[in-house]
Amino acid sequence: MHKQWWKESVVYQIYPRSFKDSNGDGIGDIKGITEKLDYLKELGIDVIWLSPVYQSPNDDNGYDISNYQSIMDEFGTMGDWENLLAEIHKRDMKLIMDLVVNHSSDEHAWFIESRKSKDNPYRDYYIWRPGKDGKEPNNWESTFSGSAWEYDEVTDEYFLHLFSRKQPDLNWENEKLRDEVYSMMKWWLDKGIDGFRMDVINLISKDPELPDAPNPEGRPYVGGGQYYVNGPRIHEYLQEMNQEVLSQYDILTVGEMPGASVEDAKLYTDPERHEVNMIFTFEHMDLDSGPKGKWDLRPFNLLALKENITKWQTGLHGVGWNSLYLNNHDQPRMVSRFGNDKEYRLESAKMLATFLHLLQGTPYVYQGEEIGMTNVRFESIDQYKDIETLNMYREKVIEGNESHEKVMESIYTKGRDNARTPMQWDASEHAGFTTGTPWLEVNPNFKEINAELAVQDENSIFHYYRKLIALRKENPIMVYGEYQLIDEENDKVYSYLRKYEDQTLLVITNFTGQEIAYGIQSEDLKRGNLLIGNYQDAPVTFTGSVTLRPYEALVYKF
Ligand code: NOJ
Repeated sequence: MHKQWWKESVVYQIYPRSFKDSNGDGIGDIKGITEKLDYLKELGIDVIWLSPVYQSPNDDNGYDISNYQSIMDEFGTMGDWENLLAEIHKRDMKLIMDLVVNHSSDEHAWFIESRKSKDNPYRDYYIWRPGKDGKEPNNWESTFSGSAWEYDEVTDEYFLHLFSRKQPDLNWENEKLRDEVYSMMKWWLDKGIDGFRMDVINLISKDPELPDAPNPEGRPYVGGGQYYVNGPRIHEYLQEMNQEVLSQYDILTVGEMPGASVEDAKLYTDPERHEVNMIFTFEHMDLDSGPKGKWDLRPFNLLALKENITKWQTGLHGVGWNSLYLNNHDQPRMVSRFGNDKEYRLESAKMLATFLHLLQGTPYVYQGEEIGMTNVRFESIDQYKDIETLNMYREKVIEGNESHEKVMESIYTKGRDNARTPMQWDASEHAGFTTGTPWLEVNPNFKEINAELAVQDENSIFHYYRKLIALRKENPIMVYGEYQLIDEENDKVYSYLRKYEDQTLLVITNFTGQEIAYGIQSEDLKRGNLLIGNYQDAPVTFTGSVTLRPYEALVYKF
């Protein structure tokens, strides 16, 4: 297997608005990030992924960009950003930036021009259509509720927005637009960044016919994804981007790709095809959702997770590369979702980390994950700030007839603000995130869960991550070893092997709060030595059986 630095790296995602505020305005900023680089260095991560820091009216917290080549005022200046990059490089870490080019903000100069007239030179930078029978051009639904089309009086046409109405979709059919995007990417790369995380990049190619989606239930708006997820020209566009830009730099590229299957992922990440290094799949994030989507709650099922992860691990082995994550700024906190954030918070957070970091792929740590931050339960809907959550609540409770209680339960379980409450630095007011009023309230558990406590306590989740990350550097098997599922039918314990050269690792993770007698009979696994475990007195050798404690994780080397 081809060795690459980005396979050996661990990436840490920063959501700048919620990371660290340096000037007391209640909003995280770039200087705040710079202040915390030594903390990240101590953790041992290699790469920082910065969620968008560009100029933006913040309809979707920076994922609506009004100028791709400038820094959001609330976050600081270009000088602050340049200093951040220099300080990151000085510590021998790397920086990847978010690339959001499926859509821009409606306040971007291109869109301001585009909406002026049908013959404006920027008209075709976006996707405009006349209405059909006095209605929207088709029945597609926006990810953030309602129609994916917005009517604009100026020219009596509609524009497409797969996300909020302030996020018009860019028209990738237009070569001029593509060239502008490529030059912008080069401009950032020439400043010295080390790669891109590409926002919903597999949505950029739409079926030019923009057909109605089948709608047997006669709903006002329905999905439409089959006409733009992994759309007709997607591989052509990515190969062009690769040839024009990516191939000219030694960088990490990861495409966020909702709706990409493992077969799609092979096409996107096979190095021979020259597209991207890896993608973020959504499949394992969707396992606890019903047919109506993310708010349609289903219990978490370990067998489904095993089946899914195994499909990706074996499917991409020797072909492409996996990215590994259990949470990010769009997903609930992993310890609340897959572990137990009450009596076994410490154990289950470490267990999940072990499970993830021992898989084949590049692990991503989302800010606060390393100290076991949890979901939040705000009393009132007014305490929430996320556009997806607020639009959904309006549609279902205010305009629809679902109960407040039921919808709040789904927000507590799946809402994006779970991940966006400010980073908990210490036990002082507002968790040391800001001296002002935080833009989103801090999780009230910050007195028990914060970075200061975690760094002081050698038994903390933080130090466990540090060990896991350090082990990756010493054990190429953690990076390159082949994955093999064992004990497939066990619905409580997830165990698997990694094999590399003449070594084998056995990973055993108890996904329950119960004690479990666990054994395996195998000639190859006679006597193993403990590599890492999440209980202090874990058995140092493994000879075939072990009694697992709640959420216990054990890794043995043979
Ligand atoms: C995916 C991003 O991760 C999410 O935060 C954002 O709302 C959408 N793409 C739209 O940019």
